[in-house]
Amino acid sequence: MYRVLLLLAFCNLFVLSVSAQRLPLGQLWYDTDGNMINAHGGGILYFQKNYYWFGEFKGIGKDGNKAMDGVSCYSSKDLHQWKNEGLVLKMIADTNSMLQPGCIVERPKVIYNAKNGKFVMWFHHELKGQGYSAALTGLAVADKPTGPYHYIKSIRPNKKSWPANLPEDQKHLLDYPIPRRNDSAWNAKVIEGMFVRRDFENGQMSRDMTLFVNDDGIAYHIASSEDNQTLHVSKLNEDYTEFSGEYYRILPGQSNEAPAVFKHKNNYYLFTSGTTGWRPNPGRSFVADNIYGPWKSLGNPVQGTEEDKATTFHSQSTYILSIAEKNNEYIYLGDRWTPENAAEGKYIWLPIIFENGKPVLYWKNAW
Ligand code: GAL
Repeated sequence: MYRVLLLLAFCNLFVLSVSAQRLPLGQLWYDTDGNMINAHGGGILYFQKNYYWFGEFKGIGKDGNKAMDGVSCYSSKDLHQWKNEGLVLKMIADTNSMLQPGCIVERPKVIYNAKNGKFVMWFHHELKGQGYSAALTGLAVADKPTGPYHYIKSIRPNKKSWPANLPEDQKHLLDYPIPRRNDSAWNAKVIEGMFVRRDFENGQMSRDMTLFVNDDGIAYHIASSEDNQTLHVSKLNEDYTEFSGEYYRILPGQSNEAPAVFKHKNNYYLFTSGTTGWRPNPGRSFVADNIYGPWKSLGNPVQGTEEDKATTFHSQSTYILSIAEKNNEYIYLGDRWTPENAAEGKYIWLPIIFENGKPVLYWKNAW
């Protein structure tokens, strides 16, 4: 009897350790304490042989998409087992603070600045009670990857700067009323920079965003701007804490969000989604030999059924992880949002495979 129990206990341990070695796609993931991993719209920083996963700490129920607590962080050496490092950016319980509980904090991304040893977090920030109208990007800085991150500011970036690729004769303030959205002129006017001109004086809108550090150490902030119609790729300053004023509009009027970027060989690849809120839509992919573009469409990266393609495996991109110690290996990180109970949103991580020069995704149940 004793031996049987021992054997059963051993089998259990074996099963547990095997399942801990697999990413359970489309199911809840648990940290090393056995609690649900709560890090949505996440991004990963690799620093000194550790992976740090930062994400939105969501609440239970419909209101769970509001930021009541802050940004969470989990650390791992193997991408399978994640230790909870707690809330590394905390909401500020002060009704005068822009970062007060009840505002919106989404898609936090952290990069390391090798020049000054700081960890720099930017995130999409919306003000309490104002829906998604503020369209700000927020900044917080820490001395250690696991924080604490000190909130610095939230801004509309690139105030009073023109995009480098806006034709000279278009660099003037808006001199006509914005047409109605269903007017056929609307999209053409968006493409020619109507919203950039509207927002020139007060700064450009910044919603879904990501960060990308190039091989030369220059960092870029890539965000949905112009009423989510056009992405802006902005160069950050040396400290990564300011916008340098140099930025390019990419894919104007094409309504991309959820940007995620990686570099493979000498090309840059960009994954995005369309703009359907929490509901998934067909993924998109692009290639360029310069981060500022021009970006060429490579179509939907999903290989699978019609439903897989229409919904990107029921996910929306948030980050692409380049595996530092394995050249040319990349992982797509997506969110399967569950807005009716935000904390239970699932994580869809899939290997990116190159086929005919295109990065593609195939479904895997667990890997
Ligand atoms: C999505 C976006 C999410 C969140 C959501 C709100 O399109 O990617 O980050 O902002 O809309 O509806």
